[in-house]
Amino acid sequence: MTTMNLPASSFTDSPIPMISVRKANFFYGDIHILKNITFNVPVGGVTAILGASASGKTTLLRTLIGLNQLRGGEIWIKGQNLNELSEARHQRIWKQMAIVFQHGALFDSLTAWENVGFPLYERRSLPMSEIRKEAERLLEMVDLQGAADLTIDQCSGGMQMRIAIARAFASSPEIILYDEPTSGLDPIARDLICDLIQKQQIQQKVTSVLVTHQLSTAFRVSNSFIFLHAGEVIFEGDADELMGSKDPYIQRFIQPPSRAYRTVNPEHL
Ligand SMILES: Nc1ncnc2c1ncn2[C@@H]1O[C@H](COP(=O)(O)OP(=O)(O)O)[C@@H](O)[C@H]1O
Ligand SMILES: [Mg+2]
Repeated sequence: MTTMNLPASSFTDSPIPMISVRKANFFYGDIHILKNITFNVPVGGVTAILGASASGKTTLLRTLIGLNQLRGGEIWIKGQNLNELSEARHQRIWKQMAIVFQHGALFDSLTAWENVGFPLYERRSLPMSEIRKEAERLLEMVDLQGAADLTIDQCSGGMQMRIAIARAFASSPEIILYDEPTSGLDPIARDLICDLIQKQQIQQKVTSVLVTHQLSTAFRVSNSFIFLHAGEVIFEGDADELMGSKDPYIQRFIQPPSRAYRTVNPEHL
């Protein structure tokens, strides 16, 4: 698998973005978390949502998939304004989306194949033997052939994340949202996840939204980038534009660690 990043322009043949967020606001109680968020996710690309801890990345993902209700603003999916759709139409749209939660959020009491087959089981449209077959196919897709009967605690963190990705693909989504899929993983496991995200994008033509605070992950797989800071979008663009950003906060975020070390001010120690 190559790690070549295709430019964002490769995916913008469609004039309508897959997701368009316009002046979206979200509050937890009285606390204003997402502030006038506006950005687009092009069809068929990988869009990275970057930002430090507590900048609102997970909240934004949950909002995209309907787990959080906006207080003002709009989310458009495939050219449809969710505010103007019935609950039944929302459900239909959300069925085309899947989320891979941070750390996988797998069921500890189920085996690998039972976790992957769970969305199919929930739909109750297939006999158990078919669900198992499909789960094994999905596990193979994430290079976990032979792991079907392992329990979750027998799997490493990287394997658990791949099981979570296989589970997300059980519902054949058009859009997949990843929340920090590589955090806490060693570099080898991280590379496998990055390869997998790219493979899904290229082979299955899914549109991905990748939340991460790890620049290395974002740069490896993403074609477009947004940067969140304290609940606001402070950047939207491609990799070159991000690297060339003059925003001091973004510059601090993207500078290499060695430079961060060299620029420590002794007076601040
Ligand atoms: N359920 C919640 N109730 C209240 N505040 C929350 C809740 N979840 C997150 N927050 C707050 O919202 C802000 C954004 O959190 P989050 O979206 O998890 O950030 P990130 O994913 O970028 O680390 C943080 O200040 C966090 O403390
Ligand atoms: Mg988070």
